Amino acid sequence: MIKVALPKGRIGTQALEIFESLTQEKLEFEDRKLILQTKNFTFMLIRNQDIPIYIERQVADIGIVGLDVLEEQQRHIIRLLDLEFGKCKIIIGSPKDSKLDFSKPNLKIATKMENIAKSYFAKKALSVDIIKLYGSIELAPLVNLADGIVDIVETGSTIEQNNLKIDEVIMEVSAYLVANENSFYTKKDEILKIQEFFKPN
Ligand code: PRP
Repeated sequence: MIKVALPKGRIGTQALEIFESLTQEKLEFEDRKLILQTKNFTFMLIRNQDIPIYIERQVADIGIVGLDVLEEQQRHIIRLLDLEFGKCKIIIGSPKDSKLDFSKPNLKIATKMENIAKSYFAKKALSVDIIKLYGSIELAPLVNLADGIVDIVETGSTIEQNNLKIDEVIMEVSAYLVANENSFYTKKDEILKIQEFFKPN
């Protein structure tokens, strides 16, 4: 039995389709149910940011999660494979009509990815006032809560429609197949088989 942590949303749906071709059975969560039990798998539907803790504590053996979440949380889990879908960029952005001045003392940066932002600016030896938010990050510079943002960009629509621009790309991210360290040893054969099946062509 393999316990799988799947993120809610598009990436989870895409991953479940791959499990469908692996198991050759129809896999569908019933209405609002969060657990899907089959003969060989238990699938759990989990909020993206919560996936690493389920893996680290071995509630799930394997899971699918964005590299942004892995980098932000730095938990002890094994990164098995870059799935090469769910591609996004983590960027620094600011209003189109002004230039983001990195030498400004206490430059204010709004983000939900506090650790990624902090470590990026620390590496550049820039002193930045990081303002932790939980969503609608693009709003912050429009209403002067912040000078700029560190956020995820996928299509670029949100940035564009809010008159922001990309100043720098911090990293490219995509979905990863991850595993609990212990499960990887005790269920190695099954997990390696799944890893092989998930390998992008
Ligand atoms: C994310 C991100 C951007 C948006 C980028 O937010 O924080 O706001 O998606 O996508 P785009 O480049 O395709 O427009 P999310 O949808 O998770 O909502 P949130 O504001 O509640 O975090």
